[in-house]
Amino acid sequence: MTLEKNLKERIKELTCLYEVSSIIVNNDFRELDKTLYSIALSLRKSLQYSKYATVEIISEPYHLISSTISKKTVLIENNINVFNDPKGFIKIHYPADKFTVNDFLTEEKKLLENVAINVGDLLERVSIRENEAILKRKMEHADRLSILGEITAGIAHELNTPLANILGFAELLKSKEPENTQTGQDLDKIINSAIFSREVVKKLMFFACEMPQNLGHTDIVPVINDAVNLLDPTFKKNEVKYKVNLPKGEVLLKADTIQLTQVIFNLVLNAIYFSPKNGLIKISLEETKKKIILKIADEGPGIPAENVQKIFQPFFTTKAVGDGSGLGLSVVHGIIRSHRGTIDYLPNNPTGAIFIITFPKQ
Ligand SMILES: Nc1ncnc2c1ncn2[C@@H]1O[C@H](COP(=O)(O)OP(=O)(O)OP(=O)(O)O)[C@@H](O)[C@H]1O
Ligand SMILES: [Mg+2]
Repeated sequence: MTLEKNLKERIKELTCLYEVSSIIVNNDFRELDKTLYSIALSLRKSLQYSKYATVEIISEPYHLISSTISKKTVLIENNINVFNDPKGFIKIHYPADKFTVNDFLTEEKKLLENVAINVGDLLERVSIRENEAILKRKMEHADRLSILGEITAGIAHELNTPLANILGFAELLKSKEPENTQTGQDLDKIINSAIFSREVVKKLMFFACEMPQNLGHTDIVPVINDAVNLLDPTFKKNEVKYKVNLPKGEVLLKADTIQLTQVIFNLVLNAIYFSPKNGLIKISLEETKKKIILKIADEGPGIPAENVQKIFQPFFTTKAVGDGSGLGLSVVHGIIRSHRGTIDYLPNNPTGAIFIITFPKQ
């Protein structure tokens, strides 16, 4: 190759690198496929036989081709690395009937390597941005729940005393009333309504982490076993199967066992309610060095994306009127939070809900 031709090739490569950096700087994160396509075109333009070349960029979920690709090709390729892991590749093809691999210049291989590094950097930035967005959404969600918790705690406290008065005086009147009178029956209605309201207030207090706790280092394996055994008749009645997977030895956690039982009850009752006939519910416990992880997975319909942000809010329910008050998961959330744990929802595959509770080990 003549000096002049050589220089021309070098200039084309440098121009390409410059172009690729500009494309990346101006990248619109919502249109990453356009950016990758522009990079493919720019790389193609810089090649010695650009008219015949096809540049292909593949990185899940993106697959871009600069131009139609021949059936049989000769090619050079380079991995795209994202955080040191191969996450796709860039290929440069020539039609095999006209070219051989020797037609790729060493400089072109170097250029391909450089462009792949640039694309890898871009994809790293994209992934950092996505993670930040997820984190931001999670924090906003946690913020909203904690504000709701404060409001709820206030209301619950205010209602506690008048409710206790209503119940106390109604019971006093009832005790003075002869049996089987109309007034006696009316007083029973007042008493039952007051008891119902007191239960709602109690659940709200759980949500707001305002309930007293009886914390002790306990082996939680038997606690989970006992809770599931108590639910056995409910599983049978609803024709739902279950599988419990617990570690052989002890799993020690600083916990309030009654509250932990309540968590398992609420989650499993939801799972049963939403399970199809013969659906399987899996309850499992795992222990790692730093964490204790409890999972409850079902095969129901799962939770639609637009509801996921709302499920822990008090009174959110999709159950039919009279079937649920929408307080089960709020109670669960409050109890887990007061144990310094977290609860996350993940969709099950192919369908269903998975609730993952993580407790830090003290
Ligand atoms: N396993 C699950 N599968 C599908 N949806 C669920 C599941 N668990 C909870 N949900 C959704 O979250 C909502 C809130 O659940 P939560 O337990 O707080 O209230 P609820 O079950 O509706 O009423 P309550 O528990 O007070 O009887 C449910 O109505 C449902 O829409
Ligand atoms: Mg429930």
